[in-house]
Order: sequence, then structure tokens, then C-alpha cells
Amino acid sequence: MKITIFGTGYVGLTQAACLAEVGHSVCCVDTDEHRISQLNQGLSPLYEPGLEALLRGNLAAGRLHFTTDAGEGVAFAKVIFIAVGTPPDEDGSADMRYVFAVTDTIAEHAVDAKVVINKSTSPVGTAQRIKAHLDAVLARQRRQLDMQVVSNPEFLKEGSAVDDCMRPERIIIGIDGEPDTELFRELYKPFSRNHEKLIVMDSRSAELTKYAANSMLATRISFINEMANLAERLGADIEMVRKGIGSDSRIGYDFIYAGCGYGGSCFPKDIQALQRTAAEAGYHPQLLEAVESVNHRQKHKVFENIKRHYNGDLNGKTFAVWGLSFKPNTDDMREAPSRVLLEALWAEGARVRAFDPEAMQEASRLYGARLDLHLVDSKEEALDNAHALVILTEWLNFRIADFGLVRQCLHDKVVFDGRNIFEPLHLAREGLAYYSIGRAP
Ligand code: UGA
Repeated sequence: MKITIFGTGYVGLTQAACLAEVGHSVCCVDTDEHRISQLNQGLSPLYEPGLEALLRGNLAAGRLHFTTDAGEGVAFAKVIFIAVGTPPDEDGSADMRYVFAVTDTIAEHAVDAKVVINKSTSPVGTAQRIKAHLDAVLARQRRQLDMQVVSNPEFLKEGSAVDDCMRPERIIIGIDGEPDTELFRELYKPFSRNHEKLIVMDSRSAELTKYAANSMLATRISFINEMANLAERLGADIEMVRKGIGSDSRIGYDFIYAGCGYGGSCFPKDIQALQRTAAEAGYHPQLLEAVESVNHRQKHKVFENIKRHYNGDLNGKTFAVWGLSFKPNTDDMREAPSRVLLEALWAEGARVRAFDPEAMQEASRLYGARLDLHLVDSKEEALDNAHALVILTEWLNFRIADFGLVRQCLHDKVVFDGRNIFEPLHLAREGLAYYSIGRAP
């Protein structure tokens, strides 16, 4: 099948590579000329395990190409995906200008009927708005084309985007009216494998499903963080509590890891956008509000531990920081807890020596050259002349540490762990003070 995808971010690019990999012929459109030229050389603009290999293989096989020519993209296929960003507006609602810019482009160039599939996370009612918008533009131009608009939200995670896309747990198709699902069954047949993954519903339910899924996951994280804060005060161990509740199959083990708060481009933005949608619908979503405020507090948790340890005086101290990305296997620092910590440390006159396996370039893009930030080449180098170690991302390679070296390097022999990657008893035996999340020292 021929497919056009507008947008080469995480969602658009991964989707394009995976659809091409299973044999479809894919044209990807983006307005960013530099990005498109890099992509045509097989260079991925983002770090995502396995993505670049898929891009190269499918470019070479001729199943995938990239262009800035929107007219070419619209002409290429009957099936057109919208996979552009919906960043937060000033008031937290989703900024839909890119989605509607693509809608205009499709209306402008289409000479035959299209199936427009919206993958961008968008407020409830967007598919219907896109349909109305397309029809209105065509009517103004006295043209008549039977445009179908479908909501098909994406559930992939950064860091495992290719895997999630190749092996989806479900494929949500939101179609209004009399649903003809044949096209979607054919499109997604290679991903369904042994059992049907398609769940068909109306477009509004599909759009709310996306927000509900992210809100549920974020709720689990804020819940366990709340329990962790309580565990600290009650002398309990949140890791034990996690195992205890996760063993209940109704609860399960996923997304109940206590830490320094959730970040990334999705949870924070989607929780806020759903709150705005709720307010517009005249409803006060108390739980969502609490999920967000617990997370906000949690992002300051490591800093509070540091301040308490140093009795409020951080001036002139140097902190080794392991991990800058909002989670492992990505170079993404959007809404990362590391940003809250770094900025809080600098405000108190402290210095930072930071290392991340992938996010160094992003950190230097965000913070540029400043005297109180030293970006170093390894986790060991970060320890040089530091007073304390802070862990903010649970990269696998941080889990095995040479504690002898840590003890020898750190002036103050103290570790602040925002991801609970070590055992408190073990660190005590190594002669290191250890602050974790929700565990007795
Ligand atoms: C999230 C969802 O998991 C995807 O299903 C969804 O498609 C995506 O948003 C999106 O809307 O595009 P992502 O933001 O890539 O994916 O990352 P997650 O793995 O969900 O992690 C989000 C944050 O939660 C990270 O900062 C992570 O450290 C934190 N987290 C996660 C915890 O603090 N505890 C946990 O137990 C799990």
C-alpha cells in the first residue's frame, strides 16, 4: 500500500520506518530541509534504538523516501497520516496549529479523495474538526472530494519506539459513521500477527483513549511516589511495598517505580491538555490535578534531600550528576527531572559535572557554555573533585558502580539517588551516605 506521512518526529519517523519495513511504500514529508536531507542520507535526527538501521535498509530498498514537497506527498498516496507535534499552548491546552497546517496542505493539493489518519495526540473532537475543515476549504474552492478522517492514536514509548511499533498491544481506530475497516486491516495486517489487534470505535472515544492511557500511567507513578514519601516518614521501604502490591495481578508491576518524577514530551503535556479539555467541558478533574501537583513536588525531591543534607548551604559545592535524559535509551531532556535539579543547584551557587550516555549534545544545546556546568565524557570523570553524586536516570550502565572509586573521589561521601538503583544496605557497607526515594537510609 502507498502511504504518506506528514511529520518526522518520534511518531512519524518510527511509523514510516516500520510501515516500510513490512512492505508498504512510504513517502515522508517535513518542512525542515536540513532534517529531510539528513534523513535521505539515512541519518536519524533522534536517538532511538534500531531506528537508523530501519531507515537505511528501507531507503536502500526504495520503500521509503523523504521530501519537503508537500504537493508530492499529497499526490503520492490515498492514505495520509498526520504525525506532527501538538505542543502545549500557554494555558496548557494542545497547540493544534501544525495539525491544521497539514490539513490545509492536504485540502490545497488533493485532486482525489483521501483517507486522512490523525496520529498526533489531539483533543477530543479533532478528527471531526479536521473533516469539517477539509470540507469547508474544498467547498470554498467549489470542489467536492469524499475525504474520510480517522483517529489512530499512537502508544509507542521513546527508547523502545521501534519495538512498540512493530509489536503493538492494540491498534485503536476511531471512525465515525458506518465504519469500513477493510483498509485498516490491510494496512496493519503485518503487525497483527497471531491475533487481531484492531479495536474500532468512534473518533471521540479513540482520542480520549489516548489521553486516558497516559493519564492512567501518570496516575500510577504519582501514586507510588506519594506512597514513597509516606514510606519514608513511616520507616517503611517502598521497594518492598512495590513488590507487595505488584504481585496482585489486578495491579501488576509496570509503572509503579518510585522516582524523581515523570518527564518527557507526553505525560506532562497530555495531563495538562486533558485538564484544559475537562475545564472546557465544565468539569473539574480533581484526580488529574493531584497527579500533576504530586509530580511537580516529586521533581524537587532530590534537591530537597541535598539541601537537607547540607543544611541549606550549597554554595561552592560540586555535584557529579549521572543521567540527564528524562529516562534511559533516549537523548530527550524535555521536562526531565534533571533540568529542575540542575537549575535549582545553580541558583544556590553549586557546580555540576554531568554525564549522560546520549544526552550530552542536548544538554549543551539547552545550557550552552556556563562556568557552573561541566559536561564530561564518562561517569567516572564526573566524580573528579565532586562533593557528592546524584543519579537522575536509571541507565543500565549506572547500575554497576565501582564504589571504591566513588568513595575515593567524593569529598563528602554521599550519594543522592532519584531512581533507586542501589541497595541502601550495600552503600552503607561501602561507607557511603545514601539518599534514595522512599527507602530508609
Ligand atoms: C509515554 C507512554 O508510556 C506511551 O505509551 C505513549 O505512547 C507516550 O508517552 C506518548 O504519548 O507518546 P514516554 O513518554 O516515551 O511514553 O515514556 P515512559 O516510558 O512512559 O516514561 C515517562 C516518564 O515516567 C519517565 O520520566 C519515566 O522515568 C517515568 N516513570 C515511568 C516513572 O517514574 N516510574 C515508572 O514506573 C515508569
